[in-house]
Amino acid sequence: MSIARALRARGRRAASRALHRGWEAVRKAGAVTAEQPGLLHFGALGPGAKFAFPTGTIFGERWIRIGAETGIGDHVSLSAGLAPGHDLGTRPIVTIGERCTIGRGSHIVGHHSIVIGDDVWTGPYVYITDQNHSYADPDQPIGRQWPVNDTVEIGDGSWLGAGAIILPGARLGRNVVVAAGSVVRGVVPDHSVVAGVPAKVVRRYDPATGWDPPLRNIPVGIPEGVTHEQLVALIEQAESRTSD
Ligand SMILES: CC(C)(COP(=O)(O)OP(=O)(O)OC[C@H]1O[C@@H](n2cnc3c(N)ncnc32)[C@H](O)[C@@H]1OP(=O)(O)O)[C@@H](O)C(=O)NCCC(=O)NCCS
Repeated sequence: MSIARALRARGRRAASRALHRGWEAVRKAGAVTAEQPGLLHFGALGPGAKFAFPTGTIFGERWIRIGAETGIGDHVSLSAGLAPGHDLGTRPIVTIGERCTIGRGSHIVGHHSIVIGDDVWTGPYVYITDQNHSYADPDQPIGRQWPVNDTVEIGDGSWLGAGAIILPGARLGRNVVVAAGSVVRGVVPDHSVVAGVPAKVVRRYDPATGWDPPLRNIPVGIPEGVTHEQLVALIEQAESRTSD
């Protein structure tokens, strides 16, 4: 290799290192927490809760409450109300519990009431909304017709697979599994697995008889003493390996 080419290669390596270091520094500085909220004023942002940078679109945050140790991936959009600057009253519109993980690129779009319990994990690109446009008037563009809201609830300990969509009025119980890509409406009982479009219960747990149908895979338990942060880091590592 000529000296000139070697120097150019070295320069590119140095530029690459500098860029990646710089981006890491920007990501750290841009992360949103209770101590470094940037320009955001959440109704509540619990201790240890964190938004990765860059965030998605966030507005109406006065009506958004987020519990302690909840981790929110990058490019997650989180909103209360139709547009920034509206007064939405005294009660919260979007509540996310403690120790939740919201996957990157997800959207949580609240207008009336979305309540996500504690320890809820979502995969990436999940969409949760409590609002439909009404379309009753055939002469008006649907986008101009007054929307219809219905409360959404997601019970403690539930897990939403990648790309799941949770529609207005959905009420998911505790420890519900939503399969990847499912579209969920209506009431989903505790300890059930729902899959498909529209999502149907494909497996349920009965305390007397166990899982019906029986589980195909016997899971391996998480070792004692693994913290929430370690678990999140392990999952992020595994995800980055599969996306390489
Ligand atoms: C739902 C899931 C966890 C499997 O759960 P499970 O209880 O082991 O379910 P099974 O594989 O036994 O499948 C049960 C039924 O649901 C169906 N099913 C499973 N996943 C489905 C999906 N994503 N969409 C539609 N149907 C699905 C299966 O085909 C099966 O139907 P059948 O009995 O008619 O064959 C898994 O399929 C899934 O979707 N994981 C999400 C992974 C993900 O998004 N990870 C992101 C990282 S957080």
